[in-house]
Amino acid sequence: MLNFSFQNTTQIIFGEGQIAALKKQIPSDAKVLMTYGSGSIKSNGVYDQVTAALSEHTFFEFSGIEPNPSYDTLMKAQDIIKENNINFILAVGGGSVVDGSKFIAAAALFEGQDPWDIVSKQVSIEKALPLACVLTLPATGSESNTGAVVTRDGNKLPFASPLVRPIFAVLDPAVTLSLSDRQISNGVVDAFVHTMEQYLTYSVNGKVQDRFAEGLLLTLIEEGPKALAAATSKDLEVRGNIMWAATMALNGLIGAGVPQDWATHMIGHELTGTHGIDHARTLSIVLPAVMKVCKEAKREKLLQYAERIWNVTEGDEETRINRGIELTEQFFEMMQVPTRLSHVDLGEADIDLLIEKLTQHGMVKLGEHKAVTPDVSRQILMTAL
Ligand code: NZQ
Ligand code: ZN
Repeated sequence: MLNFSFQNTTQIIFGEGQIAALKKQIPSDAKVLMTYGSGSIKSNGVYDQVTAALSEHTFFEFSGIEPNPSYDTLMKAQDIIKENNINFILAVGGGSVVDGSKFIAAAALFEGQDPWDIVSKQVSIEKALPLACVLTLPATGSESNTGAVVTRDGNKLPFASPLVRPIFAVLDPAVTLSLSDRQISNGVVDAFVHTMEQYLTYSVNGKVQDRFAEGLLLTLIEEGPKALAAATSKDLEVRGNIMWAATMALNGLIGAGVPQDWATHMIGHELTGTHGIDHARTLSIVLPAVMKVCKEAKREKLLQYAERIWNVTEGDEETRINRGIELTEQFFEMMQVPTRLSHVDLGEADIDLLIEKLTQHGMVKLGEHKAVTPDVSRQILMTAL
C-alpha cells in the first residue's frame, strides 16, 4: 500500500426527512446564500423543505446554475454575496450546483486578479466561504469531496481545495425519486466509473481499498438496474444504497493509499466541453476503450475485477479479461447509457479536435503510470468509435 494521509471532515446527515436538520446545522446568525439549478427543486418539494427549515435564518437565493456549471453564470453570484454580506453558502442540487457553489465560495474571497485562475492556472486558494449542501442527485461525490469542475468557453476544467469541502451534506434518498431515468443512469454510471478510476490500476496490495471498491461496484451493479425497473424504482432502500455508494465512491476513502487513473474522466471532460454530452455518458463511452487499450498495464487488476465482480473464472487470462470488459459494457447498456462514440453521433473526424483540446489543457500524461499520452488517448478514442 502507498503512504497516505486521509481526512474527510464532511458531516453526512442521511435519511428521509433530514432536510429539516438545516435549522440547527447552520449557525443562526449566518447570512445564507441558497444556490440551486434550473428549478427541479421547486417541482419536487425540496425548495419548500429547505425554505421551511431556514425560516428563522436570513437567506438569499441564487438560481440558474446549469449542468456543467459555467464561469459566467457563477460569477453573477458575486454581486449578491457582496451586497448582502453573505457568509454561508447552501448548495441545493446535484453535482453541478455543488461544484458551482464551490467555485462561488472560492471566488468570493479570492484576492488575486481573476478568479478563473483558480481553475485555469490552478492557483491555490487561501480562503473560501463556508459551504454545505443538500444533495438531490447521487453521482459525483461532490457533496463530501474537495473537487469541482467548471466550464468556460468550452473548456471544462477541475480544481480542488480542502477549503471548499462541504461542512455537512444532507442525503435524503426520498428527494431522488423525482429524477428522470436518464439522471438515475448517469448517477449510477458516474459513481461506478469513479470507483473504477481508483481500483482498476495496478496492485499495491491495498486489500481494504480493493474490497471497499469491490463492495461499491457490486452495490451499484445490484441496485442500479432496480432504480430503473418499474417495480422497484420507488424503493427508498434502493435509492438510499445508491446514494451512499455514490458518496463513498469519491469521498477519498477508496483512493487513499492506492494509485489512481482518471484518464477516462479527463478524456470525458473534452467530450462534454466540446460536444455537451452528459458527464456520465462520456465515461461509459471512454472507460471500456481504456480497459482495452491499457490492458497490459492493468492486467492483474482486470483479472481480479473479472473474477471478484463478475465471477469470471473460466478460460485463459485473455479470455477472462475480455469477458470482464464485455460484462462492463453490458452493465452500461442495461443502465441505458452509450458505450461507443457512434452512439452519440461522433466519428473518426471528431477525434483530432478532442486530442488538440486535451493537449491544450495539459492532459498529456494521464493514467496511473502517466503513460496515456495524446497518442494513447487517440488510440482510446479510436477504440471507442
Ligand atoms: O438544474 P436542476 O433543476 O437542479 O436540474 C438538474 C439537472 O438538470 C436535475 N436534477 C438534479 N436533482 C434532481 C434533478 N431533477 C429532478 N429531481 C432531482 N432530485 O438533473 C440534471 C443534472 O444535474 P447535474 O447536477 O448536472 O448532475 P450531476 O450530479 O451528474 O453533476 C454533473 C457535474 O458534476 C461534475 C461533472 O463534470 C458535471 O459538471 N463532476 C464533479 C465531480 C466532483 N466534484 O468531484 C466529479 C465528477 O467526476 C464530475 O466530473
Ligand atoms: Zn465523474
